[in-house]
Amino acid sequence: MNSIELKSLTKSFGDVIAVNDISLSVKNEEIFGFLGPNGAGKSTTIMILTTLLKPTSGQALISGFDVMTNAKQVRENIGYVQQETTVDEYLTGRENLLLQAKLNHIPKNEINKRIDELLELIELSEKQDKPVGTYSGGMRKRLDIAGGLLHRPKVLFLDEPTVGLDIQTRRKIWEYIKKIHDEYEMAIFLTTHYMEEADKLCDRIGIIDGGKIQVIDSPENMKKAMGNEVISIILEGENYNSFLSEIKKIEFVNKINEDGSKITLFASNGTEVIPKIFQISSELNIKITSISLTQPTLDDVFISYTGHEIRDDDSRFNRKREHAKMRRLRA
Ligand SMILES: Nc1ncnc2c1ncn2[C@@H]1O[C@H](COP(=O)(O)OP(=O)(O)OP(=O)(O)O)[C@@H](O)[C@H]1O
Ligand SMILES: [Mg+2]
Repeated sequence: MNSIELKSLTKSFGDVIAVNDISLSVKNEEIFGFLGPNGAGKSTTIMILTTLLKPTSGQALISGFDVMTNAKQVRENIGYVQQETTVDEYLTGRENLLLQAKLNHIPKNEINKRIDELLELIELSEKQDKPVGTYSGGMRKRLDIAGGLLHRPKVLFLDEPTVGLDIQTRRKIWEYIKKIHDEYEMAIFLTTHYMEEADKLCDRIGIIDGGKIQVIDSPENMKKAMGNEVISIILEGENYNSFLSEIKKIEFVNKINEDGSKITLFASNGTEVIPKIFQISSELNIKITSISLTQPTLDDVFISYTGHEIRDDDSRFNRKREHAKMRRLRA
Protein backbone atom coordinates (compact mmCIF):
# COMPACT_ATOMS: atom_id res chain seq x y z
CA MET A 1 0.00 0.00 0.00
CA ASN A 2 1.24 3.48 -0.89
CA SER A 3 1.81 6.11 1.80
CA ILE A 4 -0.12 8.74 -0.11
CA GLU A 5 -2.67 8.30 -2.89
CA LEU A 6 -4.38 11.27 -4.55
CA LYS A 7 -7.16 10.74 -7.06
CA SER A 8 -8.39 13.77 -9.05
CA LEU A 9 -8.07 15.98 -6.01
CA THR A 10 -9.60 19.44 -6.48
CA LYS A 11 -10.07 22.37 -4.11
CA SER A 12 -11.78 25.63 -5.03
CA PHE A 13 -12.11 28.80 -2.99
CA GLY A 14 -14.96 30.59 -4.79
CA ASP A 15 -13.67 31.26 -8.30
CA VAL A 16 -10.07 30.30 -7.43
CA ILE A 17 -9.19 26.69 -8.22
CA ALA A 18 -6.27 26.27 -5.80
CA VAL A 19 -5.78 22.54 -6.50
CA ASN A 20 -6.91 21.36 -9.90
CA ASP A 21 -7.50 17.64 -10.53
CA ILE A 22 -4.30 16.29 -8.98
CA SER A 23 -3.54 12.55 -9.03
CA LEU A 24 -0.34 11.01 -7.66
CA SER A 25 1.04 8.31 -5.38
CA VAL A 26 3.91 8.46 -2.91
CA LYS A 27 5.55 5.15 -2.03
CA ASN A 28 6.58 4.09 1.46
CA GLU A 29 9.86 5.67 2.52
CA GLU A 30 9.88 7.90 -0.54
CA ILE A 31 10.72 11.60 -0.31
CA PHE A 32 8.35 13.39 -2.65
CA GLY A 33 8.54 17.12 -3.30
CA PHE A 34 6.00 19.58 -4.57
CA LEU A 35 7.94 22.29 -6.32
CA GLY A 36 6.11 25.44 -7.33
CA PRO A 37 5.93 29.21 -7.03
CA ASN A 38 3.85 31.28 -4.59
CA GLY A 39 0.16 30.50 -4.85
CA ALA A 40 0.72 27.26 -6.81
CA GLY A 41 -1.50 25.24 -4.43
CA LYS A 42 1.18 23.52 -2.34
CA SER A 43 -0.08 24.43 1.14
CA THR A 44 -3.69 23.82 0.13
CA THR A 45 -2.78 20.26 -0.93
CA ILE A 46 -0.94 19.66 2.36
CA MET A 47 -3.86 21.02 4.35
CA ILE A 48 -6.21 18.59 2.64
CA LEU A 49 -3.82 15.68 3.26
CA THR A 50 -3.51 16.61 6.93
CA THR A 51 -7.33 16.81 7.29
CA LEU A 52 -7.37 20.58 7.94
CA LEU A 53 -9.25 21.39 4.74
CA LYS A 54 -11.98 19.46 2.93
CA PRO A 55 -11.44 18.83 -0.78
CA THR A 56 -14.09 20.10 -3.20
CA SER A 57 -13.88 16.80 -5.08
CA GLY A 58 -11.63 13.78 -5.54
CA GLN A 59 -10.04 11.49 -2.99
CA ALA A 60 -6.95 11.49 -0.77
CA LEU A 61 -5.69 8.44 1.13
CA ILE A 62 -2.90 8.31 3.71
CA SER A 63 -1.65 4.79 4.44
CA GLY A 64 -4.95 3.61 2.99
CA PHE A 65 -7.11 5.86 5.19
CA ASP A 66 -9.42 8.38 3.55
CA VAL A 67 -8.87 11.97 4.78
CA MET A 68 -12.62 12.58 4.69
CA THR A 69 -14.00 9.43 6.27
CA ASN A 70 -11.04 8.23 8.41
CA ALA A 71 -9.64 11.57 9.60
CA LYS A 72 -8.70 10.22 13.04
CA GLN A 73 -6.59 7.36 11.66
CA VAL A 74 -5.03 9.76 9.16
CA ARG A 75 -3.97 12.10 11.97
CA GLU A 76 -2.45 9.22 13.92
CA ASN A 77 -0.32 8.31 10.92
CA ILE A 78 1.00 11.74 10.00
CA GLY A 79 3.34 14.44 11.25
CA TYR A 80 2.79 17.96 9.96
CA VAL A 81 5.27 20.82 10.14
CA GLN A 82 3.58 24.01 9.00
CA GLN A 83 5.01 26.67 6.71
CA GLU A 84 5.20 29.20 9.57
CA THR A 85 6.97 28.11 12.77
CA THR A 86 4.58 27.33 15.60
CA VAL A 87 6.90 26.98 18.60
CA ASP A 88 6.16 29.09 21.69
CA GLU A 89 9.01 31.49 22.35
CA TYR A 90 8.35 31.93 26.05
CA LEU A 91 8.78 28.21 26.69
CA THR A 92 12.11 26.40 26.51
CA GLY A 93 12.87 23.94 23.73
CA ARG A 94 12.15 20.99 26.00
CA GLU A 95 8.92 22.52 27.32
CA ASN A 96 7.71 23.00 23.75
CA LEU A 97 8.26 19.31 23.04
CA LEU A 98 6.61 18.31 26.34
CA LEU A 99 3.55 20.32 25.34
CA GLN A 100 3.48 18.65 21.92
CA ALA A 101 3.89 15.22 23.52
CA LYS A 102 0.87 15.85 25.77
CA LEU A 103 -1.22 17.15 22.87
CA ASN A 104 -0.33 13.99 20.95
CA HIS A 105 -1.18 11.67 23.87
CA ILE A 106 2.27 10.06 23.94
CA PRO A 107 2.37 7.43 26.73
CA LYS A 108 3.82 9.04 29.90
CA ASN A 109 6.67 6.57 30.31
CA GLU A 110 7.78 7.23 26.71
CA ILE A 111 7.76 11.04 26.73
CA ASN A 112 11.20 11.82 28.17
CA LYS A 113 12.92 9.08 26.20
CA ARG A 114 11.49 10.31 22.90
CA ILE A 115 12.25 13.95 23.66
CA ASP A 116 15.87 13.15 24.57
CA GLU A 117 16.26 11.14 21.39
CA LEU A 118 14.83 13.88 19.19
CA LEU A 119 16.80 16.68 20.87
CA GLU A 120 19.91 14.68 20.19
CA LEU A 121 18.95 14.08 16.58
CA ILE A 122 18.36 17.79 15.86
CA GLU A 123 21.39 18.76 17.96
CA LEU A 124 19.52 20.92 20.45
CA SER A 125 20.25 18.94 23.62
CA GLU A 126 22.52 21.66 24.98
CA LYS A 127 20.06 24.47 24.33
CA GLN A 128 16.97 22.58 25.49
CA ASP A 129 16.49 24.60 28.69
CA LYS A 130 16.81 28.01 27.05
CA PRO A 131 13.67 29.94 26.04
CA VAL A 132 12.90 29.56 22.34
CA GLY A 133 12.87 33.38 22.09
CA THR A 134 16.68 33.13 22.21
CA TYR A 135 16.84 30.56 19.34
CA SER A 136 17.82 31.36 15.74
CA GLY A 137 15.36 30.79 12.88
CA GLY A 138 17.07 27.50 11.98
CA MET A 139 16.93 26.23 15.57
CA ARG A 140 13.21 27.05 15.80
CA LYS A 141 12.57 25.18 12.59
CA ARG A 142 14.48 22.15 13.89
CA LEU A 143 12.40 22.20 17.04
CA ASP A 144 9.24 22.48 14.96
CA ILE A 145 10.29 19.44 12.94
CA ALA A 146 11.05 17.48 16.12
CA GLY A 147 7.54 18.33 17.40
CA GLY A 148 6.08 16.69 14.29
CA LEU A 149 8.02 13.46 14.96
CA LEU A 150 7.16 12.74 18.60
CA HIS A 151 4.35 10.32 17.80
CA ARG A 152 6.53 8.48 15.22
CA PRO A 153 4.40 9.19 12.15
CA LYS A 154 4.55 7.01 9.05
CA VAL A 155 4.17 10.02 6.77
CA LEU A 156 5.75 13.41 7.45
CA PHE A 157 4.53 16.61 5.81
CA LEU A 158 6.95 19.50 5.65
CA ASP A 159 5.48 22.69 4.18
CA GLU A 160 8.38 24.83 2.92
CA PRO A 161 10.81 23.64 5.61
CA THR A 162 13.52 26.18 4.85
CA VAL A 163 11.69 29.22 3.59
CA GLY A 164 13.16 32.54 4.73
CA LEU A 165 16.34 30.88 6.08
CA ASP A 166 19.82 31.73 4.82
CA ILE A 167 21.53 29.21 2.56
CA GLN A 168 23.89 27.75 5.21
CA THR A 169 20.99 27.18 7.61
CA ARG A 170 18.94 25.74 4.76
CA ARG A 171 21.69 23.21 3.99
CA LYS A 172 21.82 22.20 7.68
CA ILE A 173 18.06 21.62 7.68
CA TRP A 174 18.47 19.39 4.60
CA GLU A 175 20.97 17.30 6.55
CA TYR A 176 18.51 16.94 9.44
CA ILE A 177 15.70 15.95 7.07
CA LYS A 178 17.90 13.25 5.53
CA LYS A 179 18.96 12.05 8.98
CA ILE A 180 15.35 11.86 10.14
CA HIS A 181 14.40 9.96 7.00
CA ASP A 182 17.20 7.43 7.51
CA GLU A 183 16.45 7.02 11.20
CA TYR A 184 12.65 6.68 11.08
CA GLU A 185 12.18 5.28 7.54
CA MET A 186 9.04 7.26 6.82
CA ALA A 187 7.58 8.76 3.67
CA ILE A 188 8.12 12.51 3.44
CA PHE A 189 5.99 14.91 1.42
CA LEU A 190 7.56 18.32 1.28
CA THR A 191 6.84 21.52 -0.56
CA THR A 192 9.37 24.05 -1.68
CA HIS A 193 9.94 26.81 -4.14
CA TYR A 194 13.69 26.26 -4.02
CA MET A 195 15.00 24.23 -6.95
CA GLU A 196 18.15 23.17 -5.15
CA GLU A 197 16.15 21.90 -2.19
CA ALA A 198 13.95 19.67 -4.36
CA ASP A 199 16.98 18.44 -6.25
CA LYS A 200 19.00 17.63 -3.11
CA LEU A 201 16.24 16.00 -1.04
CA CYS A 202 13.65 14.37 -3.25
CA ASP A 203 13.45 10.96 -4.92
CA ARG A 204 10.70 12.36 -7.13
CA ILE A 205 9.37 15.82 -7.76
CA GLY A 206 5.98 17.06 -8.90
CA ILE A 207 6.13 20.48 -10.48
CA ILE A 208 2.96 22.37 -9.61
CA ASP A 209 1.80 25.66 -11.06
CA GLY A 210 -1.64 27.24 -10.98
CA GLY A 211 -3.00 24.23 -9.06
CA LYS A 212 -2.03 21.79 -11.81
CA ILE A 213 0.77 19.22 -11.90
CA GLN A 214 2.96 19.93 -14.90
CA VAL A 215 5.21 16.87 -14.58
CA ILE A 216 6.23 14.19 -12.07
CA ASP A 217 9.65 12.57 -12.33
CA SER A 218 13.00 12.12 -10.60
CA PRO A 219 15.26 15.20 -10.57
CA GLU A 220 17.78 13.29 -12.69
CA ASN A 221 15.27 12.34 -15.37
CA MET A 222 13.89 15.84 -15.51
CA LYS A 223 17.30 17.27 -16.13
CA LYS A 224 18.11 14.57 -18.67
CA ALA A 225 14.91 15.16 -20.63
CA MET A 226 16.01 18.72 -21.25
CA GLY A 227 19.06 17.72 -23.24
CA ASN A 228 22.63 18.15 -22.11
CA GLU A 229 22.91 21.89 -22.28
CA VAL A 230 21.03 25.11 -21.81
CA ILE A 231 21.90 28.17 -23.88
CA SER A 232 20.65 31.49 -22.52
CA ILE A 233 20.62 34.42 -24.90
CA ILE A 234 19.74 38.05 -24.26
CA LEU A 235 19.03 40.13 -27.34
CA GLU A 236 19.10 43.85 -27.94
CA GLY A 237 15.99 45.43 -29.46
CA GLU A 238 12.53 43.99 -29.78
CA ASN A 239 11.71 42.56 -33.15
CA TYR A 240 13.31 39.14 -33.31
CA ASN A 241 10.56 36.84 -34.58
CA SER A 242 12.59 36.01 -37.67
CA PHE A 243 15.58 35.20 -35.42
CA LEU A 244 13.42 32.82 -33.36
CA SER A 245 12.05 31.02 -36.38
CA GLU A 246 15.58 30.53 -37.76
CA ILE A 247 17.11 29.17 -34.53
CA LYS A 248 14.21 26.74 -34.20
CA LYS A 249 15.51 25.08 -37.36
CA ILE A 250 19.02 24.46 -35.95
CA GLU A 251 19.91 20.79 -35.49
CA PHE A 252 20.29 19.62 -31.84
CA VAL A 253 17.86 22.25 -30.51
CA ASN A 254 15.21 20.38 -28.50
CA LYS A 255 13.16 23.17 -27.07
CA ILE A 256 13.00 26.97 -26.99
CA ASN A 257 11.47 29.29 -24.44
CA GLU A 258 11.20 33.06 -24.79
CA ASP A 259 10.61 35.50 -22.00
CA GLY A 260 10.85 39.11 -23.19
CA SER A 261 14.28 39.59 -24.71
CA LYS A 262 15.63 36.49 -22.94
CA ILE A 263 15.66 33.30 -24.98
CA THR A 264 16.43 29.90 -23.47
CA LEU A 265 17.39 27.00 -25.70
CA PHE A 266 17.60 23.38 -24.60
CA ALA A 267 20.10 21.60 -26.78
CA SER A 268 21.70 18.18 -27.01
CA ASN A 269 24.92 19.56 -28.47
CA GLY A 270 25.43 23.14 -27.35
CA THR A 271 28.90 23.64 -28.76
CA GLU A 272 27.58 22.90 -32.27
CA VAL A 273 24.60 25.19 -31.80
CA ILE A 274 26.32 28.37 -30.57
CA PRO A 275 28.25 29.19 -33.77
CA LYS A 276 25.01 28.77 -35.74
CA ILE A 277 23.25 31.22 -33.42
CA PHE A 278 25.96 33.81 -34.12
CA GLN A 279 25.70 33.18 -37.84
CA ILE A 280 21.91 33.74 -37.82
CA SER A 281 22.18 36.88 -35.68
CA SER A 282 24.75 38.42 -38.00
CA GLU A 283 22.71 37.55 -41.11
CA LEU A 284 19.60 39.15 -39.61
CA ASN A 285 21.55 42.02 -38.07
CA ILE A 286 20.33 41.25 -34.54
CA LYS A 287 22.67 42.11 -31.67
CA ILE A 288 23.27 39.52 -28.93
CA THR A 289 23.89 41.24 -25.57
CA SER A 290 24.93 38.04 -23.84
CA ILE A 291 25.03 34.30 -24.40
CA SER A 292 25.90 31.50 -21.97
CA LEU A 293 26.09 27.72 -22.02
CA THR A 294 25.24 25.82 -18.81
CA GLN A 295 24.10 22.40 -17.59
CA PRO A 296 20.33 22.20 -17.05
CA THR A 297 19.08 22.86 -13.54
CA LEU A 298 15.59 22.35 -12.17
CA ASP A 299 15.03 26.06 -12.87
CA ASP A 300 15.36 25.25 -16.53
CA VAL A 301 13.04 22.29 -16.18
CA PHE A 302 10.47 24.55 -14.57
CA ILE A 303 10.73 27.09 -17.40
CA SER A 304 10.36 24.40 -19.98
CA TYR A 305 7.17 23.01 -18.42
CA THR A 306 5.46 26.19 -17.28
CA GLY A 307 6.86 28.76 -19.70
CA HIS A 308 8.10 31.03 -16.91
CA GLU A 309 10.72 31.18 -14.20
CA ILE A 310 10.00 30.34 -10.59
CA ARG A 311 9.46 33.58 -8.76
CA ASP A 312 11.96 33.27 -5.96
CA ASP A 313 10.27 36.04 -4.04
CA ASP A 314 11.25 35.98 -0.40
CA SER A 315 10.09 39.53 0.34
CA ARG A 316 6.61 38.18 1.05
CA PHE A 317 7.97 35.95 3.80
CA ASN A 318 10.00 38.76 5.29
CA ARG A 319 6.86 40.89 5.31
CA LYS A 320 4.96 38.15 7.10
CA ARG A 321 7.77 37.82 9.64
CA GLU A 322 7.75 41.60 10.19
CA HIS A 323 4.01 41.45 10.88
CA ALA A 324 4.49 38.57 13.31
CA LYS A 325 7.25 40.52 15.05
CA MET A 326 5.02 43.60 15.35
CA ARG A 327 2.25 41.49 16.86
CA ARG A 328 4.70 40.07 19.40
CA LEU A 329 5.97 43.53 20.29
CA ARG A 330 2.44 44.82 20.77
CA ALA A 331 1.45 41.85 22.94
N1 LIG B 1 -8.54 30.15 2.54
C1 LIG B 1 -8.43 30.60 1.30
N2 LIG B 1 -9.40 31.36 0.74
C2 LIG B 1 -9.30 31.81 -0.53
N3 LIG B 1 -8.25 31.55 -1.34
C3 LIG B 1 -7.26 30.79 -0.85
C4 LIG B 1 -7.29 30.29 0.49
N4 LIG B 1 -6.15 29.55 0.70
C5 LIG B 1 -5.47 29.61 -0.45
N5 LIG B 1 -6.12 30.34 -1.38
C6 LIG B 1 -5.66 30.61 -2.76
O1 LIG B 1 -5.36 29.36 -3.35
C7 LIG B 1 -4.20 29.45 -4.16
C8 LIG B 1 -3.15 28.46 -3.67
O2 LIG B 1 -2.66 28.86 -2.39
P1 LIG B 1 -1.62 28.01 -1.55
O3 LIG B 1 -1.46 28.69 -0.24
O4 LIG B 1 -2.03 26.59 -1.56
O5 LIG B 1 -0.30 28.18 -2.42
P2 LIG B 1 1.21 27.77 -2.09
O6 LIG B 1 1.68 27.02 -3.27
O7 LIG B 1 1.30 27.16 -0.77
O8 LIG B 1 1.93 29.19 -2.09
P3 LIG B 1 3.13 29.76 -1.15
O9 LIG B 1 4.39 29.38 -1.89
O10 LIG B 1 2.88 31.23 -1.22
O11 LIG B 1 3.02 29.20 0.21
C9 LIG B 1 -3.76 30.90 -4.11
O12 LIG B 1 -4.31 31.56 -5.22
C10 LIG B 1 -4.37 31.39 -2.82
O13 LIG B 1 -4.60 32.78 -2.88
MG1 LIG C 1 2.34 27.59 0.95
